[in-house]
Amino acid sequence: MSLPHNVRLVEVGPRDGLQNEKQPISVADKVRLVDDLSAAGLGYIEVGSFVSPKWVPQMAGSAEVFAQIQQRAGVTYAALTPNLQGFEAALAAGVKEVAVFAAGSEAFSQKNLNCSISDSLTRFVPVMAAAQQHGVRVRGYVSCVLGCPYQGEVAAAQVAAVAKELFAMGCYEVSLGDTIGTGTAGNTRNLFEVVGRDIPRPQLAGHFHDTYGQALANIYASLLEGISVFDSSVAGLGGCPYAKGASGNVASEDVLYLLNGLGIHTGIDLDKLITAGQGICAVLGRANGSRVARARLA
Ligand code: HMG
Ligand code: MG
Repeated sequence: MSLPHNVRLVEVGPRDGLQNEKQPISVADKVRLVDDLSAAGLGYIEVGSFVSPKWVPQMAGSAEVFAQIQQRAGVTYAALTPNLQGFEAALAAGVKEVAVFAAGSEAFSQKNLNCSISDSLTRFVPVMAAAQQHGVRVRGYVSCVLGCPYQGEVAAAQVAAVAKELFAMGCYEVSLGDTIGTGTAGNTRNLFEVVGRDIPRPQLAGHFHDTYGQALANIYASLLEGISVFDSSVAGLGGCPYAKGASGNVASEDVLYLLNGLGIHTGIDLDKLITAGQGICAVLGRANGSRVARARLA
């Protein structure tokens, strides 16, 4: 299969990137990060989560962040919502696009959402209905698609079944998450081949954490499978609080460098993206997790 001409990057740094941080990060710093990402040309930014603050304290200020960011025309600013309570809070904060998240493994579903996969899907039904009523688009995630920190292997057929349900209930796109970054190019291709039997490939996305250093290879493998939407995190921030040891998402700068080298259009300015990453790394007092950023800044 030939490579796509355009790729959409879903920037998850402000959400997936920061949700795991123990140190307090001010609303002002989060707002600056989102505004810097908008300035870099990203068309889709996941700004925060409307989840239980007991479960993920760092996302507690998401409504304030939404109130203060400068929303640019044509850019999607999205939030995670695990249930109707979260959806209603997001709606009150003026959020126009949300994401629901299920797991490919039962054990991870219990740890992350405190319920079974089937119960999580049932909880999304009223979210989908309310979203439709309010004209809010809903993206779906499946976590642990290439391995689970609690139960090990996850079958592609199981992931496909969950993804199919999310798509059938009205998610316009389903992002497949390698939450612990153990996937390799071979099982990534197989996964998209299996899930792609039920869901058209333009409606699928790849979400790769880089724990084992395989994310760029997995993205290239996904491109060869006709996937053209990828989630990434500026400066490689992040990890999931319910997947111990999982490192951040693949760095957006590194994905952009790969795509630029392939002549694939994204609309994103690499220098401005590096500036955005440096800004949040200074706030966190942390080295930049993007190898491209480190090389450019050396
Ligand atoms: P629960 O404790 O079973 O919830 O948690 P509950 O319905 O029994 O309610 C208990 C309390 O939580 C109540 O408060 C509710 O009001 C409150 P209390 O009466 O005790 O004061 N509550 C909420 N508060 C704020 N917002 C809400 C909300 N819902 C209930 N939406 C729940 C169930 C789903 C809420 C919890 O498990 C939760 O918040 N989980 C989210 C975990 C999370 O955010 N994980 C990280 C994101 S997923 C991820 O990173 C993976 C991804 O990147 C893809 C990948 O990498 O694979 C997307
Ligand atoms: Mg993630």
